[in-house]
Amino acid sequence: MDVADTHGNHAVPNLARMYDYYLGGSHNFAVDREAADRALRSVPHAKTFALANRAFLGRVVRHLVAAGIDQFLDLGSGVPTVGNVHEIARAVRPTARVAYVDIEPVAVGVATELLADDPYASITLADIRDPTAVLAAPGVAGLLDLDRPVAVLAVAVLHALPDADDPAGILAAYRDACVPGSHLAVSHLAATTFSEQQTDVVRDVLDRTPTPVTLRSREQLAGMLAGYEIVEPGVVLLPAWRRDDSGPADVADADANGYAALGRLPVPAP
Ligand SMILES: C[S@@+](CC[C@H](N)C(=O)[O-])C[C@H]1O[C@@H](n2cnc3c(N)ncnc32)[C@H](O)[C@@H]1O
Repeated sequence: MDVADTHGNHAVPNLARMYDYYLGGSHNFAVDREAADRALRSVPHAKTFALANRAFLGRVVRHLVAAGIDQFLDLGSGVPTVGNVHEIARAVRPTARVAYVDIEPVAVGVATELLADDPYASITLADIRDPTAVLAAPGVAGLLDLDRPVAVLAVAVLHALPDADDPAGILAAYRDACVPGSHLAVSHLAATTFSEQQTDVVRDVLDRTPTPVTLRSREQLAGMLAGYEIVEPGVVLLPAWRRDDSGPADVADADANGYAALGRLPVPAP
């Protein structure tokens, strides 16, 4: 069974579909809802992460567009839901191009339908751990011009990659394909207020999916931005990244249990 078949198994819960459920989407199955509800019973802030993360995605895309970025490579893009990257970007820059990549067939199927008549957005079913294949895929190579700055988004996906997969090395391969002025946006699940017992529940629930979770610290996430200048405000708690009124109200920043950051590849002085 190849990796996409594993992710397409509807008999086991899946990260993409659990996340869709937390965001109020409809592209999830009973097995996903049961797993997500099991986590919520012990870890109410599991959903806070999802909501705060999606709000961060919106803020960082708006920031990038304002900074002149008009093409995006969205790694682990998830099930399309409210506030998709191409919609956010095009509200300001109608010609923005977005190449989405995900390994989960339901996410890819929904995106394929949504983007069917869109010449400037694509969805590729692929494993982001294979940067060579991702970058050569028609939906990516045929849409993005990597001779111009691009924003790579690795938002709420790196915790699905165990240390053994060398997530920093994978990000470095994408970085090396990008020109100066390109960006990398990241967010990551972290145990900032999860108790040890809650962390065990999160691990146990996600260990039953095709993507067991690896929680990482602020320092570990910063280490994945090697080669990039870290844009203000740095590597911070998710809701604190260029805060506005998006995201869940009335929760402490640490209760989102995640960090976020944006890096920019330095442009050499003329
Ligand atoms: C929590 S969702 C995040 C969705 C979106 N990036 C966001 O922040 O709203 C994580 C996504 O990463 C995808 N994913 C996990 N491992 C992957 C891999 N190795 N290759 C491609 N996609 C992957 C999952 O299928 C899921 O859709």
